[in-house]
Amino acid sequence: MSQIRGRFKKAADKKVDQYTASIPYDWRLYPYDIAGSIAHARMLARQGIITDKEAETIVIGLNGVKEEIALGQFLFKAELEDIHMHIEARLIEKIGDVGGKLHTARSRNDQVALDMRLFAKDAIANTLVGLGELQKALVGLAEANQDVVIPGYTHLQTAQPVLLAHHLLAYFEMLQRDTARFIDCLKRVDVMPLGSGALAGVAYNIDREFLAKELGFKAMSRNSLDAVSDRDFILEYEAAASLAMMHLSRLAEEIILWSSAEFGFIELDQAYATGSSIMPQKQNPDVAELARGKTGRVYGSLMALLTTLKALPLAYNRDLQEDKEGFFDTVDTLLSTLEVFSGLVKTLKIKPEKARQALEKGYILATDLADYLVRKGEAFRIAHEVVARLVSYAIEQNKSFRQLTLAEYKRFSKLFAKDVFDITIESSLAARDVTGGTAPCQVEKALANAKKAIGARGGR
Ligand code: ARG
Repeated sequence: MSQIRGRFKKAADKKVDQYTASIPYDWRLYPYDIAGSIAHARMLARQGIITDKEAETIVIGLNGVKEEIALGQFLFKAELEDIHMHIEARLIEKIGDVGGKLHTARSRNDQVALDMRLFAKDAIANTLVGLGELQKALVGLAEANQDVVIPGYTHLQTAQPVLLAHHLLAYFEMLQRDTARFIDCLKRVDVMPLGSGALAGVAYNIDREFLAKELGFKAMSRNSLDAVSDRDFILEYEAAASLAMMHLSRLAEEIILWSSAEFGFIELDQAYATGSSIMPQKQNPDVAELARGKTGRVYGSLMALLTTLKALPLAYNRDLQEDKEGFFDTVDTLLSTLEVFSGLVKTLKIKPEKARQALEKGYILATDLADYLVRKGEAFRIAHEVVARLVSYAIEQNKSFRQLTLAEYKRFSKLFAKDVFDITIESSLAARDVTGGTAPCQVEKALANAKKAIGARGGR
């Protein structure tokens, strides 16, 4: 069997075959296509549309084809458009005309929708594992470095001290939301489209409930036109993946900054760093840079598919074939990024001394000084002003807050007393004892909650 060209008098031009084929990328749908076909054959037999014997021959034949593909013994041909036609053609080659009964009460339009949904369900399951693994790595790193303090930044300017664990748990929270998004998206992926036929439903007494059950779907599509033309479920995955990649890209950016000589808060394990071909001193954070870079193609696939879909009339249009490469690439990119990040985070070395040195700079306790004056009765706005002048003075004198004398403090406000020297990095952290704050007792609670959340997801 070559292309379906029943009413044509000539073969398609070679370039047309190549241009229209999806086999170069949709071959990877084969396990799903075969699972769908086996369920379909069994259903046809149960309903008396084909005989039990015919179904059995088809199922054995399909399993044989699956093995050939898995073992790399299958011959793919450009003139057979897609994986569906390849499998059917090979089935007929193997078992004869009875193989031609498989496509009864089915169209490639509902078949490809089924395959993509089965693929997406697996992709989501794997994504959830990947997200969970990275969360575990983040929690592990946070726990192992519970008393490490780093400067917190706003505008990338030194702002207030924070626990490193608090900073890492911020990423844990982002990944929690990503996880929730993929779980939510699964509800709309988990819908069985077979029975929609080409667009209008099929003219046979089929059993859709059986198909849904056999293939492990929670729900069935309710409108055949919608079922063959809906690709929302792919968009939803791509949108959730774009958000996840954006989060990973932000983490990547911090890993890149922090591993620079200027920050130096972390050192990448050599297994996760790369060398420079010219500068021997370098240990480059290429993994993080590529994760940041790959975020672009994931956004790109989302935009590409949104654009492809925007003016399509119902029902199936060949444009829909363009859903695949971007989706596959998005799944591959996200899964590999999650996997390599887990390893990178697990093997990161934290350098607390470098973080300490950074804390000495930038008058990081300025807010605490203002809060100190407020506690002594000053209005916050005035306290802010006083400390701003104090900072200018200290910069002029080239002194840190610690190095100023009480007399110098008193020049800026009479409210300053000896206990101003009790303001330290530790007191600053401890003061932020609100839910979600960086006080060590709060971060300890947050860590415990994070561990519970991962545990509750069933030890993935
Ligand atoms: N290769 C097609 C795709 O990926 C399969 C469905 C083809 N349907 C059709 N009527 N040509 O969308």
